[in-house]
Amino acid sequence: MSKLYIVGVGPGSDEYLTFKAQKIADSVEVLVGSKRALQLFPDSKAEKLELDSKNMGNSFKQAIIRVEKGKSVAILSTGDPGFSGILKPVLNLSSSVQVEVIPGISSIQLCASKLQISWDEVNLITLHGKGDSLELLELLDSGKPTMILPDFNVKETAKFLVDKGIDPDKEVAICEKLSYPDEKIVKLTLKDVLNDDFSYMCVMVIF
Ligand SMILES: C[S@@+](CC[C@H](N)C(=O)[O-])C[C@H]1O[C@@H](n2cnc3c(N)ncnc32)[C@H](O)[C@@H]1O
Repeated sequence: MSKLYIVGVGPGSDEYLTFKAQKIADSVEVLVGSKRALQLFPDSKAEKLELDSKNMGNSFKQAIIRVEKGKSVAILSTGDPGFSGILKPVLNLSSSVQVEVIPGISSIQLCASKLQISWDEVNLITLHGKGDSLELLELLDSGKPTMILPDFNVKETAKFLVDKGIDPDKEVAICEKLSYPDEKIVKLTLKDVLNDDFSYMCVMVIF
């Protein structure tokens, strides 16, 4: 039956792929995703459409057109589709077709496990696509640890916080490239983050 699946594929390694995600990927006629996400399913016989990162809306529309023509399609989403993911933009375009969402393990969850944090006791915020915001300062005021998906770069977020008067010696953890062979997890201070280089693929925790 034609359906659009929005499938979380975990934060990186196939070890964090769920059995359900694998089952859906094996059954659909079309898989849509980033190059990295598509590589998680090397044995799939489905038609593969690589997401155009400069025009994701167009890729989503191509996926929906295929569902309207009777095909089963899965759009693959890093981590969980519902946390700073593709869920909202795809739902906004897909009112004409039946949709099912398959959760995935978020980078936030993997970061919490690695740091042994209960994530029901933290603030969660994504700055992705929004930039550093005053909302973040309000969360830090609560005294709870704050888990952040930075907009682009943890250094810029650290600079924003120090410029806004947050103590440069505040304790921070950076979880970079979680589940990849070059995963790096470090505990340092805000001012250390200013003097280090990290990739865009980081979860930042401020204690
Ligand atoms: C568009 S958001 C998608 C988040 C995703 N929906 C999730 O649940 O993890 C992309 C951001 O997630 C974070 N991220 C995704 N995968 C990661 C990983 N393996 N290690 C660290 N951070 C990761 C990074 O901050 C990256 O810039």
